[in-house]
Amino acid sequence: MARSSSDKPWTVGVLFSQTGVTSIIENSQLKGTLLAIDEINQAGGIEGRDISPVILDPASNVKQYRIYAEEMLADPELNVIFGCYMSSSRKEVLPVIERQNGFLFYPTLYEGFEYSPNVIYGGAAPNQNSLPLAIYLLENFGSRFYFVGSDYIYPRESNRVMRNIVRQGGGQVVGENYLSLDARREDFEWILEDIRRVSPDVIFSTVVGIGTVNFYTAYHESGGDGFKLPIASLTTNEAEVAIMGRSAAAGHITAAPYFRNIKTDENARFLGKYARKFGSVEDVTSCCEAAYSQVHLFANALRLTGSTGADQLRAVLRGAEFEAPQGRIKIDPDNNHTYLQSRIARLGADGEYRVEREAVRPIKPDPYLAVPTLNDWANAPIGTN
Ligand code: ACM
Repeated sequence: MARSSSDKPWTVGVLFSQTGVTSIIENSQLKGTLLAIDEINQAGGIEGRDISPVILDPASNVKQYRIYAEEMLADPELNVIFGCYMSSSRKEVLPVIERQNGFLFYPTLYEGFEYSPNVIYGGAAPNQNSLPLAIYLLENFGSRFYFVGSDYIYPRESNRVMRNIVRQGGGQVVGENYLSLDARREDFEWILEDIRRVSPDVIFSTVVGIGTVNFYTAYHESGGDGFKLPIASLTTNEAEVAIMGRSAAAGHITAAPYFRNIKTDENARFLGKYARKFGSVEDVTSCCEAAYSQVHLFANALRLTGSTGADQLRAVLRGAEFEAPQGRIKIDPDNNHTYLQSRIARLGADGEYRVEREAVRPIKPDPYLAVPTLNDWANAPIGTN
């Protein structure tokens, strides 16, 4: 379509923290979002109109997400927001979005047990990450799990789900402790002492943000060895590993739909473009990839609707598919969550993730764990890389 300089852009909100405790991962989401917007604009925009992001930094302050979401949606031209990492921030933003009939693209794994007609959930639900991880850990490491988490809704709820799964699999939780999001290295010492005392088979971490770097570093400095007693997590990612360094990271395990190292043509193209725009792919994470894919899903929907109205977008997004860097994904018309790949990877001594297991096809999201049994996973056979 011909472009006209008088065409007004499509204004969208972008709400990721560039500063504060979750800025490492949220900066990766911001960059994934901006890369996709660049691609769309360079290809001519939508109906000849560019996508123009309004970017605000809530500084990892949960209330600030709500304030900024209100500010954004007060603009009659802005109805769509890409943003949020912490579930606590999504919960703050949710009533604002629903009241205004806005639309939130949330590119983050979370604890499940939520549905909003005004949200597209682009990260893994527990049946797509907790469940396969628990099975893998029970099979390979043993049945005694020690939980360590940051103290807010996601870790506590996600651990409730994990505890149920572990018990179903015949395992037990032998310790469970939480620290604030700004926990420093030394704050983890008493937990590490308790872990040594209890001697679990595996540590399951729902520590997020900078706390992850501090926890893994403290573990390493206290003599912990990921190849002997690994920390398994759903949140630890390439960007945080780059900061903690390979010795602190080695041997630990993450379950996610995407790892930077996976070999797909789409991923090679994605990483090439990311490197050209940002100079390095060191901080590419599964949440960055989810953010990138969600912008493309939005743009494809906008091409059909010619409107950013929530009702119009929802109608075409339900069932929409995208050839993502992780593989083909699809928005589940039943629940606004996303069919995603499911992979389990272990960090080598070189600090690189290597996929040890992956599902043979995308997993249908089951955010309410309507089929909450380990056998659910048996319906999606696991292949070994
Ligand atoms: C999260 O808070 N959903 C990682």
